[in-house]
Amino acid sequence: MSNSEEFISQLADKHGRRRESLMPILQEVVDEYYFLNEERMVNIAKELDISTAEVYGTASFYSFLSTEEQGKHVIRVCQTIICDMKRKEDIIEAITELIGIKPGETTHDGKFSLEYTNCLGWCHEGPAMLINDEPYTKLTPEKVKDILVSYMKK
Ligand code: FES
Repeated sequence: MSNSEEFISQLADKHGRRRESLMPILQEVVDEYYFLNEERMVNIAKELDISTAEVYGTASFYSFLSTEEQGKHVIRVCQTIICDMKRKEDIIEAITELIGIKPGETTHDGKFSLEYTNCLGWCHEGPAMLINDEPYTKLTPEKVKDILVSYMKK
C-alpha cells in the first residue's frame, strides 16, 4: 500500500465511507499533498465505492481542489493590461531569479508554483499578485523578493 493509499484509507475510517465524506476527504488530501493526482482520486473512489468520474467531477468543479501538480504556495501574478503596463514582467523575472521557476512550473521541493492570472481587482495598486489567498500590491522586484523570503520559512 502506498503512503497516499494508506492516508486515504485512514481518512475514510475517520469520515466514513459515504458519498457525503467525499468533500472532507478531498480537502484533507489537498491539505496534505497540495493537489489531487489520478492515483489519489482512484483510491478515494475505491474507498467510498463511487466512480472515479464522480471524484474527478467534484474536484474539478472547485478551484481550491487542484487536480494539477501544485506547490504548497501558489503565486499568481496578474497579467492583465494595467499590471502588464506596470511591468509585471519585472515581477516574474524577480521570482524566477529567486526560486528558479517560470510561470506554469513548480519548484522541486513542492514549495512554490508560479502562474499568471487575470485581473485581481487591484489595478490601481498594480502590479499585483496573490500568494494562496493573500493579495500583494504595488510590487517591485525588491518587494517581491522580501515577500517570497518570508514564505520560504512557512
Ligand atoms: Fe492587474 Fe487589475 S490589471 S489587478
